[in-house]
Amino acid sequence: MNPSSIALVTGGIGGLGSAICRQLAESGATVIAADLPSRTDRIEAFERDMVAYDGRVRFMALDVTDFEACKRLVDTIEQEVGRIDVLANVAGITRDASLRKMDKAQWDQLMAVNLDGVFHMSRAVVEGMLARGYGRIINISSVNGQTGQFGQTNYSAAKAGVHGFTMALARELAAKGITVNTVSPGYCETEMVMAVPEAIRARIIAQIPVGRLGSPEDIGRAVAFLASSHSGYITGANLPVNGGYFMSF
Ligand code: CAA
Repeated sequence: MNPSSIALVTGGIGGLGSAICRQLAESGATVIAADLPSRTDRIEAFERDMVAYDGRVRFMALDVTDFEACKRLVDTIEQEVGRIDVLANVAGITRDASLRKMDKAQWDQLMAVNLDGVFHMSRAVVEGMLARGYGRIINISSVNGQTGQFGQTNYSAAKAGVHGFTMALARELAAKGITVNTVSPGYCETEMVMAVPEAIRARIIAQIPVGRLGSPEDIGRAVAFLASSHSGYITGANLPVNGGYFMSF
């Protein structure tokens, strides 16, 4: 990471998002955590945690489902903070239900955040990155986009789609100094995973070769690696960070 880099992390105050912000800040970056303004308790806790970075990590309000708001946020950051070198698309939700019980709203809400949001933010940052001939875009997918998961037709479809998006955009930008990669976390110690019924969660943990849930920092370090200026020869890749839960070849 160039110490002067500016990184934008959507879903930045969430379980994975805040660990990603921390790891990027550890690497020397100035970090903007963009997330829903309604999560006031979470925002206060996040700001307390990030005091250690002397103002280099700050919160800005964003709803990634709003295309125009994404453009406005990028304009504001470019004017007030500086050029965006790194975009980490982390914002994501679950709306688990077997297909027979899934209603249209559960499908639509999930796609709006997990897939449309990636398009909205990437579209907003790409012109600035092209103009400067440098950029790093990291999209958070999931092991469940690689394997499918019971009760997650919406989530698995969106997360598989995220990596399709990554590969297509990586090809478009490969010759322009911009890399686009996916990180696919396995089951990590986050609220999202803790919301899975305990019996089901225990069954999943029993299948993880490393024998534990991932920590958010495990994911943060992988993102910081791909965000580094030294990772310029890695693009269109999907980096699994799942304790060996799923191994593809
Ligand atoms: N695997 C296999 N069969 C299952 C099952 C499962 N995980 N869950 C339920 N079933 C079976 C039931 O035993 C039942 O069988 P019978 O009809 O023969 O009795 C049937 O399916 C019931 O189906 P329902 O649709 O009624 O299931 P439900 O409403 O009780 O529960 C669910 C469905 C809410 C999706 C529940 O299975 C669940 O919470 N699963 C966990 C999903 C999961 O892993 N989500 C990951 C969230 S974390 C995340 O996504 C982060 C990341 O990236 C890793």
